[in-house]
Amino acid sequence: MSDREVKAPDLASLLQHKSEKWTGFPRDVLPLPVAEMDYPVAQPIKKLLHDMVDASDLGYLGNIPEMGTSFAHFAQERWNWKVDPLQVRIGTDVGVAVVEILRVIAKPGDKVLVNSPVYQNFYTWLAETGMEKVDVPFTRTGNEEESNNPWEMNWPEIEKAYSSGIKVHMICSPHNPLGRIYTKEELLRLVALAKKNNVIIISDEIHAPLTYKDSVFIPTLSLGADAENLCVTVTAASKGWNIAGLKCAIIITQSELMNEKMSHLPFALHYRASLPGAYASAIAFKEGGVWLDTVIENLNQNRYLIRDLLSATLPSVKYHIPQNGYLAWLDLSALNLGDDPAATLLERGKVAFNSGHFYAPQTAQYVRLNFATSPEIITEAIHRIRKAL
Ligand SMILES: Cc1ncc(COP(=O)(O)O)c(C=O)c1O
Repeated sequence: MSDREVKAPDLASLLQHKSEKWTGFPRDVLPLPVAEMDYPVAQPIKKLLHDMVDASDLGYLGNIPEMGTSFAHFAQERWNWKVDPLQVRIGTDVGVAVVEILRVIAKPGDKVLVNSPVYQNFYTWLAETGMEKVDVPFTRTGNEEESNNPWEMNWPEIEKAYSSGIKVHMICSPHNPLGRIYTKEELLRLVALAKKNNVIIISDEIHAPLTYKDSVFIPTLSLGADAENLCVTVTAASKGWNIAGLKCAIIITQSELMNEKMSHLPFALHYRASLPGAYASAIAFKEGGVWLDTVIENLNQNRYLIRDLLSATLPSVKYHIPQNGYLAWLDLSALNLGDDPAATLLERGKVAFNSGHFYAPQTAQYVRLNFATSPEIITEAIHRIRKAL
């Protein structure tokens, strides 16, 4: 299959997969939770991995300067962001990297700001480091509608939190599960607050490569000297190119100040990433553009397919079209499925989503649907919701 035509295999083939998504549920359940895609990996990555296996080249990860240069090339091409390749470090995965960064820039008991609903491991990373979570939830300003993502930043409360002595603000940019991209104005406002209050921003940009053509992703570190002096970005090729099992992430700084802080990260963070993962990531950033564009177009069709299926068969389920990624955030409150609609759908409909509970108590009536799969599987998933009613 060429990288210009990428299709998810049929259900019978996917059921052979060993990943968590495909082994975490009984076989009669259609799984659309865990954020991995069902598409075959890009040809350059496939070839690299085959070659490494054929050569039995599966030892420890050493120096890999091409990671910095490949990422810099990708960032320049996609986002017009000029990255100093020498300030691109490697971490085992995004989770491990964020935990180690937190340990370097703060200490147990320090306050860290998050904005729920957010990727649930933001909470587990804080628990792991013994830091105190300060949550300023996004405000839902209206109904979910096709062209209206109603989730807005609560600026008065964010400003209060900044002046209350937080050490770190962890942002998810683009946002999982809200499918939302921060505007330049929002990011600049955060940077100004961080500068004024001596706060470090950790920007988790793992979803950024999967931004739709009609939206513009702004890397936090592309916003000038103030941002460079107070932000560290953690990202990876793992989400964009679907290679999470290969274990590799990158940590980016762009100032001497932040570079010096990150020089205290444990040396082992680098070689605890995998050798195939690091080389696959570097080749993804350098040569994976054709595949990525094909996948973004598949996802683009899928995000509208969900809209069409819902409006034809489940019009009371509300959904906004995401600006990024393959996670649909469905408001099921009108379906009256009890305290945990995801659990009810699993039991009655044999279809698995991530429960809105994972992300915030106030989003318990939501489910997160992973649509990085075939149109047939998406259609079957919506059909199973209907059958469960
Ligand atoms: C925002 C965000 N950060 C991090 C991760 C996980 O990254 P890793 O597997 O590299 O820890 C995910 C996975 O879904 C995610 O959505």
